[in-house]
Amino acid sequence: NVLILDFGSQYTQLIARRVRELNIFCEIFPYNHFPDDLSSYKAVILGGSPFSVRGEDVPHPDLSQIRGKMPLLAVCYGAQYLAHFSGGEVAASNTREYGRANLSYIKEDEVFFDGVVQNSQVWMSHSDSIKALPTNGIKLASTNDVEYAAYKIEGETTYAIQYHPEVFHSTDGKQMLENFLVKIAEVPQNFTPGAFVEEIVAEMQEKIQGDKVVLGLSGGVDSTVAAVLLNKAIGSQLYCIFVNNGLLRKNEFENVLNQYKGMGLNVKGVDASERFLSELAGVDDPETKRKIIGRVFIEVFDNEAHHIEDVKWLAQGTIYPDVIESVSVKGPSATIKSHHNVGGLPDFMKLKIAEPLRMLFKDEVRRVGATLGIDPELLGRHPFPGPGLSIRILGDITPEKVRILQEVDAVFINGLKEHGLYDKVWQAGAILLPVNSVGVMGDERTYEKVVALRAVESTDGMTADWVHLPYDFLMKISNEIINKVKGVNRVVYDISSKPPATIEWE
Ligand code: XMP
Repeated sequence: NVLILDFGSQYTQLIARRVRELNIFCEIFPYNHFPDDLSSYKAVILGGSPFSVRGEDVPHPDLSQIRGKMPLLAVCYGAQYLAHFSGGEVAASNTREYGRANLSYIKEDEVFFDGVVQNSQVWMSHSDSIKALPTNGIKLASTNDVEYAAYKIEGETTYAIQYHPEVFHSTDGKQMLENFLVKIAEVPQNFTPGAFVEEIVAEMQEKIQGDKVVLGLSGGVDSTVAAVLLNKAIGSQLYCIFVNNGLLRKNEFENVLNQYKGMGLNVKGVDASERFLSELAGVDDPETKRKIIGRVFIEVFDNEAHHIEDVKWLAQGTIYPDVIESVSVKGPSATIKSHHNVGGLPDFMKLKIAEPLRMLFKDEVRRVGATLGIDPELLGRHPFPGPGLSIRILGDITPEKVRILQEVDAVFINGLKEHGLYDKVWQAGAILLPVNSVGVMGDERTYEKVVALRAVESTDGMTADWVHLPYDFLMKISNEIINKVKGVNRVVYDISSKPPATIEWE
């Protein structure tokens, strides 16, 4: 188990992911808010920071239980922090120290650099520079511009590096992390999907005992994996609810519900389409649509949950990025930011919360799902927004518009699957525009709806680029949509990236 202290760097999550890729479990905590009892941790990593150690409100971690007592790796800000406050010197740098650099000097016979080639490329991102090493510091590596790119402290298992080993551009970065964690700190590499399943099943059984648990299934990866894990842990004590809000993809409710039943889940499908659509009638503001859907969902779910006698727990598919985001370093003190998935419990449902996936990243959730034998097709599904097709129907929503969009979307998604393109795209869908355009079919003039197709590449939805789908494919899909879907006479393809556009149109 490895402890990572966050100083607010955008890269901290990436460090955690690299460590996990080594099959080593790790947790991120704010630098000023970490557990008192560190006995279960085998090593500590200090992350980067947007702050300067020379500034006024310098983030000061309390390292009294860490430094010299257990293996410590200080990255970027961490390396400067150790230098600045332990007898070294940090000053504003006068050369450019952003981007690629090469380790022109590496100390010989240094375990930290085992398997790392001379001139190995590393990624720098800092404006301060270490001018003098801290007391007992030993230089381990330099670049042309940065003399103290890496150092260690004699008499301690403390290592410090100025560059970011966690980013892709640091070619041997993962090797260095492995050298530090496995060879130097001797942390066991035992965090595998199978081991996780075993551990979390036991933990959930211990926590929940004989109580009943309710869980909302959405058809998405996270809630599905959470349900299958809990089903393994507590079987018939788990009650799943799958709500049809009438804004799902074509036939999705029936198909996914059957799939859930086939997986042996105790699931109840609740078709509340009419209720959602009637509450949404005449509403065209996107945020109002979201609020209505959120409220009606809670009402429907709560009503169903009340039918389960004596239920004590609410299970959620919360994953680690949501958890980190809700307790993160924003400025010199830790602030708590509320997030829709964390603590998202309506007041009138006083249930205890079970979150079996709260320590996992998305790709780990998929791997755990695969270990549990969940259908790869289900695990590979594109993300789909909670408010569903409502935010892809611009303007007000009617049952007829939902039908049109479901048909269009189905042609597009099935086409992507048939042409082997589905897995190359991060998210895809169709948007129904609130405009009519003139067309001609046979001898007749038409005046019908325009739809847009959207397909993006992304890793986390924060940034995205449009996918360069083959023209032949777009041509075929466009023909099929116009021929098959009554009410549509024009198809356009969205070629905007995020930013400045967003993935959804509303
Ligand atoms: P945007 O449009 O902000 O979308 O670029 C980024 C990702 O978030 C999804 N999204 C939502 N998901 N409720 C959700 O559960 C929402 O209100 C919502 N809005 C956008 C979107 O589909 C994409 O994956």
